[in-house]
Amino acid sequence: MKYRRFGRTNFHSSEIGYGMWGLAGWTDTDAGEVAHALDRAVELGCNFFDTAWGYGRGKSEQILGDLVKKHPGKEFYVATKIPPKNFKWPSKPDYRFEDCFPADHIIEYTEKSLRNLGVDCIDLQQFHVWEDAWADRDEWKAALEKLKKEGKVRHFGVSINRWEPENALNTIRTGMIDAVQVIYNIFDQAPEDALFPLCRELDIAVIARVPFDEGSLTGNLTKDTVFPPGDWRGTYFVPENLNASVDHADALRPLLPAGMTMPEMALRFILSNDDVHTIIPGMRRVRHVEANIAASDGRGLPEALRLALKGHRWDREPTSWSQ
Ligand SMILES: NC(=O)c1ccc[n+]([C@@H]2O[C@H](COP(=O)([O-])OP(=O)(O)OC[C@H]3O[C@@H](n4cnc5c(N)ncnc54)[C@H](OP(=O)(O)O)[C@@H]3O)[C@@H](O)[C@H]2O)c1
Repeated sequence: MKYRRFGRTNFHSSEIGYGMWGLAGWTDTDAGEVAHALDRAVELGCNFFDTAWGYGRGKSEQILGDLVKKHPGKEFYVATKIPPKNFKWPSKPDYRFEDCFPADHIIEYTEKSLRNLGVDCIDLQQFHVWEDAWADRDEWKAALEKLKKEGKVRHFGVSINRWEPENALNTIRTGMIDAVQVIYNIFDQAPEDALFPLCRELDIAVIARVPFDEGSLTGNLTKDTVFPPGDWRGTYFVPENLNASVDHADALRPLLPAGMTMPEMALRFILSNDDVHTIIPGMRRVRHVEANIAASDGRGLPEALRLALKGHRWDREPTSWSQ
């Protein structure tokens, strides 16, 4: 595993972090296998774990808390998220700040996360949704100052809504935020336009989430894929999205070098960008942990392939199903 300096936090995060949504929120999760997968990730040098109160109403945070306790002496960066008070994901431009992140809610949910995680201090507390129009509101800044002063949170971040990578630029400029979490992958390259240059300039850490486009970039989805009842992916990969995503993923297959898998190519594309500090694939299986961490070998991608993949950028707009 390779490590990168995580912006001005000066953390040294593993290039492959651990996305902890699926293990406490998706159907068909095998808790025993998840426990092995987490242990294996720690063993292989993963030190950055991304969870949220919203992943199973604290369940994913508790799983991370148990992992931290189980591995005393290991370095962990614990990142979690404050749900919006209206519990609606993602936020919409017409949502009122007061309905999402009033100061008492920020504090209440940080206290809940501390209890779930069983830690004294959260390394990175993130807003789970955000609207840049809220940048100038003083209430959230006062809450963040208080939590930092009390030693309950080391750094704050914003998790930027899907397909809106520029919806936090003014917030970053407030100086209150040390990290952003954004969707960045072979399809979603728009963060390179304005977000990454600003983060570079201000030394803000970048977490690339959803490296596999929720699964299409693993190459394992087909137009006939059906998700189990209750699985949120069934509401995301509606026919319109599933068909288009499979077509875009299939268009990548001719580019695959011999011996390289689709997930490996997807991760190597992101790793070849120095503006990214950690990638957080969702992982529930030991074999995925091993395969994904193996991509962090410092080799990136051959330049010709990286350039060819740049041509597969796919800009999308938030829609009724995009979430
Ligand atoms: N708003 C937000 O802040 C927000 C929203 C979404 C996600 N996130 C964070 O980002 C993380 C990643 O996103 P995600 O999990 O939604 O999407 P993702 O990482 O793009 O895709 C996860 C899917 O890829 C599969 N997978 C992982 N490694 C694989 C491999 N080597 N080979 C084949 N398949 C592989 C997983 O398999 P299995 O199904 O077998 O596990 C899962 O189905 C989340 O866990 C969460 O921490 C944050």
